[in-house]
Amino acid sequence: MVERYLITAALPYVNNVPHIGNIVGSHLPADVFARYCRLKQRNTIFIGGTDEHGSPSEIAAQKAGIGIRDLCDTFYDIHARIYKWFHLSYDNFSRTSRPLHHEMTQDFFLALQKNGLITEKTVRMPFCEKDRRFLPDRFVEGTCPRCKYEQARGDQCEKCAALLTPVELLKPYCTLCRSKPVIKETKHLFLSLDSLQPPLKEWIEKNTHWKSQVRNLALGWIADGLKKRGITRDLKWGVKVPVKGYEKKVFYVWFDAPIGYISSTKEWVLEQDEFEGKEDAEFRKWWTHPQTKLYHFIGKDNIPFHTLFFPAMLMGGQQYILPHYVSGYQFLNYEGGKLSKSKGHGVFCESLVDHESELGLPADAWRFFLILKLPEVRDTDFTWKEFQSRLNTELIGNVGNFVHRVSSFIVKNREGIIPNKCKWEETDEQMLETLESYVSEIDGLYDQINLVAALQKTIELSAKGNQYFQSQEIWKNPERQNAVLHVCARLCNAISVLMAPVTPILSARMRRSFGLSESFSWVDVRDQEIGGKRVSPEILLTPLDDDNLARLKAISTKLGDVEQRIGKHKAQRD
Ligand code: 2FM
Ligand code: ZN
Repeated sequence: MVERYLITAALPYVNNVPHIGNIVGSHLPADVFARYCRLKQRNTIFIGGTDEHGSPSEIAAQKAGIGIRDLCDTFYDIHARIYKWFHLSYDNFSRTSRPLHHEMTQDFFLALQKNGLITEKTVRMPFCEKDRRFLPDRFVEGTCPRCKYEQARGDQCEKCAALLTPVELLKPYCTLCRSKPVIKETKHLFLSLDSLQPPLKEWIEKNTHWKSQVRNLALGWIADGLKKRGITRDLKWGVKVPVKGYEKKVFYVWFDAPIGYISSTKEWVLEQDEFEGKEDAEFRKWWTHPQTKLYHFIGKDNIPFHTLFFPAMLMGGQQYILPHYVSGYQFLNYEGGKLSKSKGHGVFCESLVDHESELGLPADAWRFFLILKLPEVRDTDFTWKEFQSRLNTELIGNVGNFVHRVSSFIVKNREGIIPNKCKWEETDEQMLETLESYVSEIDGLYDQINLVAALQKTIELSAKGNQYFQSQEIWKNPERQNAVLHVCARLCNAISVLMAPVTPILSARMRRSFGLSESFSWVDVRDQEIGGKRVSPEILLTPLDDDNLARLKAISTKLGDVEQRIGKHKAQRD
């Protein structure tokens, strides 16, 4: 039976331009893991898309003074372009505004309803008399009843991640006009999370391979007791509710968004010629087969939705599989503070893409640094100083230096040809044993999604290679050249494979410079047939000096206003 790896990254809202915190918090680690899985020749797909409904888009469109569809079209293009620039290898990057997604969401709902998991309740909701509307989700803010954070949203507190309902907020205010809402009654549909609590609890308890912080958060909410959760909203933009009397309502954005993983998979299946005529069977293999391992990569604020809310929907609906692993990330801060789009406090990716040629820093350099700073356990902090020093010392000074030094030595002293295997000394044997033990360890680290450690260990291996090359002084001992250069070339080959999930383009260049094939898999990490290949040294990257850094900082921290960008992108498209 073939194991399948279905990897997803949180579907981003399309209300603004992504910053590096958005890249590092889900897309990038998901991509690194997907690339690792493909290298291991696992049957893998990496699925994503944009989350276009709900209050985030409505509010952004209202602020920009344009239609919601225009806003979503524009930001979809911006997001897709940025992710492509970062080499995020999505097999499909869809949109929740597409008809297929709407249909699948409605079917999903009907299955839950058929299974008796949907109830209707009359609820009290904040209503703004000035704006003449109900205030769901982000249309209302106030103080979190749990942690007392003062800008908690109607559906969730950003600070403590607690799921809320608008009437629970203390001191509520309308986010459109700041006035105090009144309370009015309205009818809504609810998902019976309470009846699904026992199987959810049993399932989470069984997931002992999850990181304790993710599992404990989920168990904590279960211990508090799950309540029925509203899944409809008084909004215009979203998936229509197929129930009489709900013509003017839509589904809650967090009801339809995770179904986006499913509809994006379906869209991918439909687009592959090889599945023609058997689309349904292929789709079911990915979403209903127990041999499929579903991995979600998300930020910490999304944990309750991916460990409770969506699994409950999956359990209660159409017999879909449950997530095998939920990789929840903490936040990446910026220079000691919070990343903030409105304050221009952060690195905004659109500028990196727009000014690529002038900045000369490829996406792989960012990928390398961001994986080193991946907030796996706690929040981490981006500083320009560390960015410069780690690129210069670790990527360029260590890895880049090693591969360049070895290949140029071969050109100068061995007519560009990697020496064949030959008799070696104990130090050579030891170096090869070290290589083997690093390869096994790094393989395990990637497999367990310990990505920071996987990259650090690879850097460490390269440092060992540098030390070995230096210590053997082959410029003084020509008789040692065959053995040492052969071993070093094997190390360079291994490093190119080990780094490939993180720096795919630089890895391909490393391989080219050693005459190695650019179509390779994990087994090639142990390739011994390297002798006889012709090298052509390449400088991978030039160090980032202070002037370049200052330019980079000036450009990438700029965020013009939304309206201006909307205008610009519209003009480009027309
Ligand atoms: O927090 C967010 O940015 C959401 N748009 C994530 C949605 S993930 C999923 F379930 F689609
Ligand atoms: Zn809170």
